Amino acid sequence: MTDDVLVVHGGTPLEGRIRVRGAKNLVSKAMVAALLGDSPSRLFDVPRIRDVEVVRGLLGLHGVKVTDGAEDGELVFDPANVESASTDQINVHAGSSRIPILFCGPLLHRLGHAFIPDLGGCHIGPRPIDFHLQALREFGATVDKTPEGLHLSAPNGLHGTKFALPYPSVGATEQVLLTAVMAEGVTELRNAAVEPEIIDLICILQKMGAIIKVHTDRVIEIQGVPKLHGYTHRPIPDRIEAASWAAAALATRGHVEVLGAQQADMMTFLNIFRSVGGEYEVTDARPPKLGDPGQEGGIRFWHPGGELNAVALETGVHPGFMTDWQQPLVVALTQARGLSIVHETVYEQRLGYTEALNTMGANIQVYRDCLGGTPCRFGRRNFKHSAVIAGPSKLHAADLVIPDLRAGFSHLIAALAAEGTSRVYGVDLINRGYEDFEAKLADLGAHTERP
Ligand code: EPU
Repeated sequence: MTDDVLVVHGGTPLEGRIRVRGAKNLVSKAMVAALLGDSPSRLFDVPRIRDVEVVRGLLGLHGVKVTDGAEDGELVFDPANVESASTDQINVHAGSSRIPILFCGPLLHRLGHAFIPDLGGCHIGPRPIDFHLQALREFGATVDKTPEGLHLSAPNGLHGTKFALPYPSVGATEQVLLTAVMAEGVTELRNAAVEPEIIDLICILQKMGAIIKVHTDRVIEIQGVPKLHGYTHRPIPDRIEAASWAAAALATRGHVEVLGAQQADMMTFLNIFRSVGGEYEVTDARPPKLGDPGQEGGIRFWHPGGELNAVALETGVHPGFMTDWQQPLVVALTQARGLSIVHETVYEQRLGYTEALNTMGANIQVYRDCLGGTPCRFGRRNFKHSAVIAGPSKLHAADLVIPDLRAGFSHLIAALAAEGTSRVYGVDLINRGYEDFEAKLADLGAHTERP
């Protein structure tokens, strides 16, 4: 047990309005992209989260001057003096985030070599990096795996290549993009991930001078250019955080308006939310005009009263139901009448957190079979990756230990929905991806305290 604990007095519906800023899974990559420019970049709406601090630290070690801009949440990156950092300095960040792996291409372009520390991130399966390393080798990089981390070099430069991903991995697609934009010649990537965060990264790279065509059928073609300049960009908002608060509204029978949430990027979530019985209303943004202060866009989510419905859902790559939406929503599904089915097809070990929900009174069974959907990669590999949730169950308070970021938020929602006082240990992990979550909880009327 750690000292880092939040006491949650549950049973009160969350009510009020919060705001989400730039998507964690875009902002951190946009920061890495700034390394590729030969002039400063400017990024807005950057949330104050741990992943951003890790990337900021790594950029600083490599000579990129990172300063706060005039606007709240604005960061300015000056890559004029990119330089090597010592492995000891870099290793300070070992185990803290998955993002360092994306420094490979940009550092190889800028310095001819790169050192990548042992990676971190959430423990939701083995999380291999074989696609990344295979792609980098195709570009001409040599990769030396040592106990302290990865040493890469590109003695003959990096050259465009044809590469097909075995699975549309988000990170590996970003690796290829960040490497191909300045590699000599043309790169063709097949079976690419096309999540909105990837399209936004492509927008950033295009602003920097890159030539990238997104074809149909997950094919991306990149024409390498010898130099790129800085960008100015306002990122897409965090659709994982938005859905997490929406699920919290549903599970606590509350009403939460998420300013910044965007309908187009959340379509699949919104359909499931409505099928479960939640209500939502989209407010379009209106710019201020003379005599009209304008309005910020967002989505209002609420529990309309009465019973929720069981649903069957399967997580998948975009435009499917995001794997990161699954854990928060499952808490709401414990309150739905009947049997809900969740088939997790992106990560093989992302249902372990359901045990904690069961100790709170939920009735969730996990199975190795591919339930209620298309057979997936994990069906024959002995992973418990399908869940059946029988509801409704009355949740009661418990002592919980947070295992990873998204499961952690689901524990928090469960504690908020349960009657009584829960102690949630390891809550600082939530700061990796949810900006000011304790202040937001207070704004929504939650009763929490640090002992
Ligand atoms: N995979 C491989 N080999 C690789 C890369 C991936 O087998 O070299 C497998 C993974 O093991 C997994 C699947 O491919 O089974 C998908 O992984 P992907 O590479 O798409 O995930 P990622 O880039 O590591 C990002 C997000 C995750 C999010 C996934 C899926 C970031 C920093 N992380 O991870 O977000 O769940 O895409 O959308 O962008 C989170 O925010 O909490 C989080 C885990």
